[in-house]
Amino acid sequence: MHAYIITGASRGLGHALACHVAGLGHAVAGIARQASQALEGDDIIAIDADLAGPDAAHAVRYALQLLPLADCSSVTLINNAGTVAPIALAGHYPDEQVAQALTLNLVTPILTTNAFLAATAGLALSRRVLNISSGAARSAYPGWGVYGAGKAGLDHFSRVANLEQTGSETPARIVALYPGVVDTDMQDTIRRSPAEAFPLLERFIGLKQDGQLTAPAVAAAKIIDFLDSATFGDTPVVDIREL
Ligand SMILES: NC(=O)c1ccc[n+]([C@@H]2O[C@H](COP(=O)([O-])OP(=O)(O)OC[C@H]3O[C@@H](n4cnc5c(N)ncnc54)[C@H](OP(=O)(O)O)[C@@H]3O)[C@@H](O)[C@H]2O)c1
Repeated sequence: MHAYIITGASRGLGHALACHVAGLGHAVAGIARQASQALEGDDIIAIDADLAGPDAAHAVRYALQLLPLADCSSVTLINNAGTVAPIALAGHYPDEQVAQALTLNLVTPILTTNAFLAATAGLALSRRVLNISSGAARSAYPGWGVYGAGKAGLDHFSRVANLEQTGSETPARIVALYPGVVDTDMQDTIRRSPAEAFPLLERFIGLKQDGQLTAPAVAAAKIIDFLDSATFGDTPVVDIREL
């Protein structure tokens, strides 16, 4: 059995990832603001936490206490919770949304990875961290300056942390992954944004109309196959569409 901690497990891609691995019989802890409500009835440990607040690292340490690690051969942290807000051109950002987005998309996954690596260092388990990033880390999308900056930072943190592990006796593998365009609430938010704030609006409306969005369950299955592959960790930043 494997153990997983998945942030943003209440909806969208995170929920699909949590349900996929729970369905395979693995032990899963899901963290989100609405985790217990969303995961009621699922065989998943639900931890309610605001990951844009000061308790993010604590929530991961708590999840590690609740998971049956003694019965597991590996433990994986999937930093998936994220926000695309604020969708706006520079010069029009609400100040508080910038700080909140960069906290959730960048500061929190650094803090949770830090807590995870420290708390699992002495365990005889294979350890993996998967940071859900975005193609917006690499390409410039007008209106997504804050989102892209946070994800680019997450990519670079993953490169450095993965490299740091290579000399260690029991290296953890750390990867940032672009999941493609997935049919979730986040895409709904993007399609409802004003055109003046997001010049690529029509393109994203067209992707949905043309059936180009990946179903969350399909993306989740592909991501977990990649996590379980022997090559996971060889490249620190990966686009699922290039696997
Ligand atoms: N969908 C796409 O096309 C796409 C493309 C590229 C990358 N991504 C990335 O994939 C990841 C998942 O995206 P998604 O599309 O599944 O998004 P989503 O449908 O909007 O779901 C976001 C998840 O994050 C959680 N979350 C948001 N704010 C939180 C907070 N302050 N504290 C704790 N949890 C919080 C939400 O749970 P609560 O509301 O219950 O807290 C929810 O479970 C994100 O990192 C996103 O950037 C998505």
